[in-house]
Amino acid sequence: MLNDSFRYQNGELTCDGVLLREITASQGTPTYVYSANRLIQNAQRLQQAFAPLGATLHYSLKANNNLAIIRLLAGLGLGMDAVSAGEIYRAQQAGVDPSHIVFAGVGKTREELTYALQVGVGWFNVESHGELHLLNQLAGALKKYPSVALRLNPDVQAKTHHHIATGHFGAKFGMSAETIAHILAHRAETPHLNIHGLHVHIGSQLGDVNETVEAVRRAQQIADPYPDLRTLNIGGGFPVRYVERDEYPQPEHFAHALAPILSGWQVMMEPGRSIVADAGALLISVLYLKDQAGQHFAITDGSMTELIRPALYEAVHPILPMKNAPVTQKMIIVGPVCESTDVLNREAMLPTLQTGDLLAVMVAGAYGMVMASNYNMRTRPAEILVEGDQWRVVRRRETWDDLLRQELS
Ligand code: LLP
Repeated sequence: MLNDSFRYQNGELTCDGVLLREITASQGTPTYVYSANRLIQNAQRLQQAFAPLGATLHYSLKANNNLAIIRLLAGLGLGMDAVSAGEIYRAQQAGVDPSHIVFAGVGKTREELTYALQVGVGWFNVESHGELHLLNQLAGALKKYPSVALRLNPDVQAKTHHHIATGHFGAKFGMSAETIAHILAHRAETPHLNIHGLHVHIGSQLGDVNETVEAVRRAQQIADPYPDLRTLNIGGGFPVRYVERDEYPQPEHFAHALAPILSGWQVMMEPGRSIVADAGALLISVLYLKDQAGQHFAITDGSMTELIRPALYEAVHPILPMKNAPVTQKMIIVGPVCESTDVLNREAMLPTLQTGDLLAVMVAGAYGMVMASNYNMRTRPAEILVEGDQWRVVRRRETWDDLLRQELS
């Protein structure tokens, strides 16, 4: 899955003109590489698509929260969407003003709410009656009047992998229309909260614009009797293409479908994946080749600990060779982790490989590094940012001692 940034030049895979093998020669593998150009392009495309709606973008930090990436996106004027006080803290460390942060999440603790109130987070997306009352009580104690958006569970089943759908009734997210109507009718009971928005996010990698339109309509019906309630946070979920055969609605399709119904509304958005996914690749090396049960395995130094998406969501990430050559075989690309699910790709079409060959796992910028683990005492990889024709390490590879540091023996 090539794009303007990741492409072959003279038969070798490059990121914005930088030879990826140069990066691995210096930093080793597995290593994440991100293109600043592509990040900027993706963010600006969303900004432009939704400009007619006057939408403000809050980048969903959960997709990739490297400080350099936060800084870069904040520099383009994006606010941030955080789901923990830790993410708020991280964004602050990257220089983000807390008033540009929306704080979402189904289980915010008392400590997290207090922290967010103290630093002056811009919006709280509240997901339950209990949270609402706790926030009101904490805000009262701190003499604050935070802006609150109530998260609606619109009972819309999004067309996406069932693990990343959030808008159906069986999901833990948001509140029913009845609960929200009740809260709105009793706003006087939460005098410290400035409840003037609704929030709706029905899932990630959304396959159908109509479901988003339907969810927005349901939110608007609830807000209708309250003229002071005209802010709608439509969440994220804009899909990206992982493999050539994928056909998904583009950001412009969402914008066109939503523009007519959202005029007169202050619109907020929380895109994550659509900004970082195809701006990142995971570079790995072939350790061994083995043919077994009629299948060709390439055992690599990349695994489910660096990229868990294939194991967790049956996600397909294309795998490309560092040197472009004619495809000769279907390979199963696996890692060294002691789990049968440690498969990065079950049907990678690749040229004949040799031990030591470099591969790139594409479209890995979102929900890659942030979901990496230390299972099997594996150190999390280095992260590299390519800016223009320069590259730099924006997170060094972990060491064994980094992993032992927290333990008291
Ligand atoms: N807003 C809310 C309330 C969310 O729950 C999410 C994602 C987003 C915004 C950003 O969605 P995006 O634009 O990135 O689709 N780990 C999974 C994805 C989990 C998404 C969780 N919520 C994956 O790797 O596919």
